[in-house]
Amino acid sequence: MIDVLVLISGTGSNLRALLDAAAQADFPARIVAVGSDTDAPGFAHAREFGIPTFVVSPPAFDSRESWGDELRSLVALWNPDLVVCAGFMRILPANFVRAFAPHIINVHPALLPLFPGAHAVRDALAAGVHETGSTVHVVDEGVDTGPIIDQVRVAVDARDTEESLHEKIKQIERPLLVDTVVSIAHGHIDLKELVAQ
Ligand code: GRF
Repeated sequence: MIDVLVLISGTGSNLRALLDAAAQADFPARIVAVGSDTDAPGFAHAREFGIPTFVVSPPAFDSRESWGDELRSLVALWNPDLVVCAGFMRILPANFVRAFAPHIINVHPALLPLFPGAHAVRDALAAGVHETGSTVHVVDEGVDTGPIIDQVRVAVDARDTEESLHEKIKQIERPLLVDTVVSIAHGHIDLKELVAQ
């Protein structure tokens, strides 16, 4: 059994999938806390499951480093085996990444290394690609640059809007994220080995 701390910024549908999975008796991970950079709507899912939440708001700090220090201190209180960024819309500062690496993963709505950054779905549409998808990867100090753990593909339809395409991606990224957490918990994915390659 591993302890997982989830970081979110938005609606938390990936968080919800993890919470639903963790409610099953045989799930090999438990969600210990949910953190955010803002009072995220997705906190409602955590509250429903009685999971503690916390906010570390960047504007309250005079530098990224001091924000990262506070975030690191709060996350460390839970002593997680794994930190999952599930729609966390901030770039984690180096001091935070160094504290928990390689045990931080992120789910990104594109087939990395294509379309990193905050507008991956929009960028994929604008590029006219016929397929995109979702990637789970290890977080390093770059923007969506860490080693790829797994990916799932999604066809882009000519009628897709950013919203419809993102919804299709979200449908496949939830099981992708849940399965990845299971594989890490069972030791089938070794994050240390992945970053050493
Ligand atoms: C997901 O598409 C994820 O890949 C991206 O942000 C979105 C978060 O959605 N990083 P939600 O908050 O989990 O619903």
